Order: sequence, then structure tokens, then C-alpha cells
Amino acid sequence: MVSCGWDCCWCKSLSGAQCGEYTVMSKLKAAVMVQKTSLKRRQNVKNSPQRKRLCQKQVKEVSPGIVSVKETGYHSFKDLTEIHSIRANLLSWYDKNKRELPWRRMAVTESDLNKRAYAVWVSEIMLQQTQVATVINYYNKWMQRWPTLQALAKATLEEVNEMWSGLGYYSRGRRLHEGAQKVLSEFKGEMPKSAEELQKLLPGVGRYTASAITSICFGQVTGVVDGNAIRVLCRARAIGADSTSPAVTEALWMLANILVDPVRPGDFNQAVMELGATICTPKAPLCSECPVQAHCRAYHQVVKEEEKVSKRLLDNTMLKFSSIPDIEECGGCSLCLPDKESWVSSLGVMNYPRKPAKKPPRTERTLTCVVTRKRNTDDTEEYFLIQRPNFGLLAGMWEFPSILMEAELMEKKQKRIISDRLTELLGSSVTEANLQHLGEVVHIFSHIHQTYHVYSNSLSDTTVETVKQEETEYPSFRWVTKAEFHQSAVSTAMKKVFRLFSHLGVNEKLLNKGDKQERGLGTKEGERKGRKYKAPKDSGRRQLCMESFFGPAVKESL
Ligand code: ADE
Repeated sequence: MVSCGWDCCWCKSLSGAQCGEYTVMSKLKAAVMVQKTSLKRRQNVKNSPQRKRLCQKQVKEVSPGIVSVKETGYHSFKDLTEIHSIRANLLSWYDKNKRELPWRRMAVTESDLNKRAYAVWVSEIMLQQTQVATVINYYNKWMQRWPTLQALAKATLEEVNEMWSGLGYYSRGRRLHEGAQKVLSEFKGEMPKSAEELQKLLPGVGRYTASAITSICFGQVTGVVDGNAIRVLCRARAIGADSTSPAVTEALWMLANILVDPVRPGDFNQAVMELGATICTPKAPLCSECPVQAHCRAYHQVVKEEEKVSKRLLDNTMLKFSSIPDIEECGGCSLCLPDKESWVSSLGVMNYPRKPAKKPPRTERTLTCVVTRKRNTDDTEEYFLIQRPNFGLLAGMWEFPSILMEAELMEKKQKRIISDRLTELLGSSVTEANLQHLGEVVHIFSHIHQTYHVYSNSLSDTTVETVKQEETEYPSFRWVTKAEFHQSAVSTAMKKVFRLFSHLGVNEKLLNKGDKQERGLGTKEGERKGRKYKAPKDSGRRQLCMESFFGPAVKESL
């Protein structure tokens, strides 16, 4: 059933639509008024113990029923006709234009409700902060390996991390795994069937994910508010206040709950998200193709502004007017743009939504070393990996030995630190002279701009024994082949480090071939194959443009 969060009569009975509509609209307006008044008062009673009581009192003061529908309209819906029209337009557009996605097929074809919910749960977790195009491959592999909750529950965390490798935000996979184990051990394999229960009982399932799963799988009539829906709703209803604020978040959930189609809630929610992903995009939105353009307040504001500008040009009365058009039609409330001056003409509908400026990511520099050895049985090259602790950033993931730098250091000092660490880890002396500086790799995690200073070290003594695990501060280490490296639970950042190492290795071989002809074997360059060559500080190898090599830095999260 519809839940607008206010327990209104429309929510309880869809047949009481007129009455409910009135109540819901009034409540939205009431919420806006409460927010506005309480904001003012809050300035006076900041941190006051009476604050909570005061807000509650205001809810009563502006209790629904005393506000007319007309007054509420600007950031909500005009009437039921508009709501019906938006629903119909969006659904028929979705039916014609939706992308065929594996989880959508599962949601329609899978008759077992637990399997269906699991399939959608996996997709929704993967889709958090990750684009559809990236998710598809991961999703298919995941479902092939663990087609049911039971299968996932039996997997190890190591296997889950391996499967998640490269997708970022690694705690998502861990929570999904924990959730599957919980459904098995505590609910006998039965997925909770309401959004409220899902959110309450499953780790990593928030309000959005719970509503998405239950609307898509079980037909629960609840709206969804994710990044795409925020953009669509903020533009549609000209909500220009900080979209991350609690007041706007609540207003958006209320709008989503009012708007969701009671007959096809899952399809409707996916239609809103699909519109946000393909038409109502953050940049260069395709307004001319939008099925709900006629209902979009942001679009109307743009058209109105253009009309005003051309009228002024025609009248040649430009100078008589202020340069800022009268774009707000609400009169100003806590959901509007902060002020008229904050409207930027060149942005058009992209004036919505508004977010506070992001804190710039912190900058970190890390020393990392690709240590290799030749397996003495068949001469296969192996790489030394150590495991990160099972908590904190990139928990349990594998990496080349890495040391966070506390300050900018000269190369000589960097080598000293690495050789000390490798000596400690490998149990035999690693000299600075054997370390080669390969270059730098930049990787942007969600909140860290990380630069890896990449070194390599080739162990010539293949019998070298790594120190016993309990003697190191790391729980685990292992030697892997190239193929095993790519199957391991390693982050994208480490894959980039490995690509740099491999790419330079190939270049070196080519270089050596050329060198052989010109200078013959036995030259310094020739010795590189024997791992004794020490690259000069500014060797040509370091002039590789990393950006062109790796393409734009990909954002990955921890
Ligand atoms: N984003 C997250 N879930 C989605 C879905 N089911 N359809 C489209 N976009 C989405």
C-alpha cells in the first residue's frame, strides 16, 4: 500500500483519492512550513533541550487541513489528473525504451519469490554507486557462481572479495554475503517481504534498497529515492534547496510515494530511475525526448526565461529590466533555490538538483613495490602479495607491499623505507640498489586522491623464504602467478600498478632487442634482463605519460 509517511487516508485507501490527495498535499506544505519556521526558531534555540518539543508543537500548529491545496502545489502535484498523466507517460515510455537487463528478466521470469528477491537484491547492491554498464558483467558472473542465497551463504569472504575485485566499495559485497548467511541461519532462507523488515534486518540494506527490492519483487506500493530519482523529482518539481538536506530528502520520499503507480510500482520506480539514467541526465539532459516534459517545472522555468529574454529583445527594452528573470513561482520556501540570484541561465534545467560543494578528496602518497621471483621448478614469474587487515579500508584485500608516506620524500629515502620493509617481510636482506623506480600511478578512491610511487624488485635468490606469518604485522601473504594475480581479491589500484609494471617490462624487452643490435650484449642495458641494471633517475621509461596510458583516473571506492 502507498505510504507517504504521514499515515494519510489516501495511503490507507486508494479509493479515497480526493480526500487523500488533499491531505497529502497539505502535509507536504505543512512540512515545508514547519521546516521554515523551525529553521528560524532553531537559530534562537540552537542546542536547546526544548528544541524537539518545539518542532513537535509546530507540526500541530500547522496541522494538515488548514492549508489549501492550491497553496501546496508548486513543489508537489497539481491534482490527480497530473499524477495519472505522469504515471501513464512514464510507464508507456518505459515499456518502449527500457534496457534489457539480466536482473529485470529475473524479476519477471523467476517464480520463486526468494530467488527473485535475491536476484534483485544482488543487482541493487551492485548498482549502488556503480553504473549499469559496469555492473552487468559482474552480475552475470556472480549469479552464475552463486545463483541462490544458499550458494552465496556457503561461499567464503575471500571468494566474495575475489568476485567483487574492481567493483569498488568492497564492504557492499561483504554485507551481501553476511546478509545471505543471516537469511539462511535466522529466517530459514525466507527473505523478509516488506521494505520495513528488509531495512531493519539485513546488513547494507537501507531505505532505498529495501523499497526497490519490495516494489520490484513483491509489488509493494512504495516509491524509491536514489540519485537518479532525486534528479528527476528535483527537476520535475523545481526543488532547488540542498538535495542532501533532511527536509528535501523527506519531501522527495513523500513525492515518490505519492507518485508511484499502485498497479505497477516496480516498473514505475525503474522507469523513474531509467529516465534519470538515460534522459534526465546530470549533464546534457535530453529534454526534447522526455515523456514528462509537460509536467517538468524546471523545463517550464527555462522556457519562460527564454520567452522573457526574446520578448525583451523584441521590445528593445532590455535595460529597463533587471537581468534576472522572475523564475520562481512558489514565492520562496525551504524547498526553492536559495535565492533568485542562484539561478544560472546557462545551466537550464541543470540548475536542479543542488548539492553542497563536495569536500575535496584528501591527498595521499603510498610507496608500493612489485616483488618478483622465478619459480625454481619451471621458471614461472611469481609476485608477492600481502593481505590487508580484515577491518578498515579495503578490508581483507590483497596488495603489493605498500607503505603510506607521511611526507614527501626523496627517492633515496623512499628506497630505504621499501628495502627495510621488504627485508622485514621477506626475511632476507633487500638492498636499495636492487629497487627500480617504475613511475607513479594515480587512483582516485571515493575520498582519497592516492598516488602510488611504484618500485619493482626482482629476487634473484629463488630459494628465498618469506618470514613466518606470525613474525609480520600482516595476517597473510602469498606468491602468485600473473593469472592468479588477476583472479585474486585485488583493488583496481593494484591492477593499475601491475599494468604499469607489465607494460614497462614489455617496453624493456623491446628496448633490449633494439639495443642488442646497436650495442650488443653485455652492455648495461643488456644486463637488465639479468636484473642488475639500475635505471637512471630520468630514464626514458619514466617519460611515459601515465594519463594517456591509463586513460582518465577511474573513481573507485573503499
Ligand atoms: N538503478 C538502481 N536500480 C535500478 C533499476 N532497477 N533500474 C534502473 N536503474 C537502477
